[in-house]
Amino acid sequence: MTIAILVIVWSLALAMVMRGRLKGAPIDAGAMADPMVVEEPEPFHCASETDAAPPHANGRRRAEPTQSDCEDWQSGNISSSTSYRQSHISPGYAEYYEKTYAEGYYAIQWEQVEKPLVRTILAGLAQRGAAHSLDFACGTGRILQLHGEVFDDVVGTDISAEMLAVARLRCPEARIVEADLTTTGVSGHVAGRQVCTAFRFFLNAEPALRADVLEVLRRCLVEGGHLVANFHCNPASPAGTFYRIRNRLSGRTINNLMSIGEAEALLRTHGFTIQAVHRYGLWPRFGWRFNRMNELLLTPAETLGRQAPVLMRFAQSFIIVARRD
Ligand SMILES: C[S@@+](CC[C@H](N)C(=O)[O-])C[C@H]1O[C@@H](n2cnc3c(N)ncnc32)[C@H](O)[C@@H]1O
Repeated sequence: MTIAILVIVWSLALAMVMRGRLKGAPIDAGAMADPMVVEEPEPFHCASETDAAPPHANGRRRAEPTQSDCEDWQSGNISSSTSYRQSHISPGYAEYYEKTYAEGYYAIQWEQVEKPLVRTILAGLAQRGAAHSLDFACGTGRILQLHGEVFDDVVGTDISAEMLAVARLRCPEARIVEADLTTTGVSGHVAGRQVCTAFRFFLNAEPALRADVLEVLRRCLVEGGHLVANFHCNPASPAGTFYRIRNRLSGRTINNLMSIGEAEALLRTHGFTIQAVHRYGLWPRFGWRFNRMNELLLTPAETLGRQAPVLMRFAQSFIIVARRD
């Protein structure tokens, strides 16, 4: 109850600050791509264990949209020995995943905030000469399609045939490979990449898989190549704070969290140098009952965050651009 009150107070305060600033325009991508000055957030220990993944029909109520903020790898109904590799392979998952970005909060966040930001980052790398890219764990091709706009030679890999079937339709120009690079290793088309992306992956992958993937991506990249990775549950955000407290009260990890400091340390451990951090996603998704409010306030909140960057400390997601040493 206390948490709910805190979250509501936070949202009301933000809404009041934004009165008169409601514009609803897409975020200026150039402004967004200016890396924030990163102050080290307070350390927060990452989930050391694999969370359990719910099946996609996991008892959510009828109108509730798809995945939660820290999404699909939670709520304790499979064994802790199961890997994140199994997270998206159940029949029907691709359709379920697509719905997440079809309408509502996630669709608006994707179209208005995340897509322009990723576009700008990738275009910047292309301008600096990158032409060969890889989208690791490309899923249904959400990020992969943006590679196709700026790079000449684009590869997407994933282990879910169903997710890749959608990616093939969305990105006909890309080379799509069904493979787990952590077991196949680096050969053929995935070698010699100048840019690798990995979105919505590291937060929920178990530590051993994170390490294996970072090692293999380092080997896919040429020296001086760039890794662009997103992390979508910053513990300093309102949702992150809620999840952190809920995890503690329940005595188990229901939602994974990763701070900027932790993500940077992870990448450094595997031979990357951090070049930029882009924070985004200031407005939290309060749940499906508040869809309308979420949809109305998401973009203005982001605009406000660009004008008052200190607020972006509370943004839920961030993208790290790191150079392979
Ligand atoms: C949350 S989805 C993200 C999809 C896409 N990157 C995006 O942002 O929309 C995570 C993806 O990771 C894939 N995956 C999990 N383990 C993998 C592995 N070892 N190799 C390749 N893909 C993997 C899953 O099949 C799933 O498609």
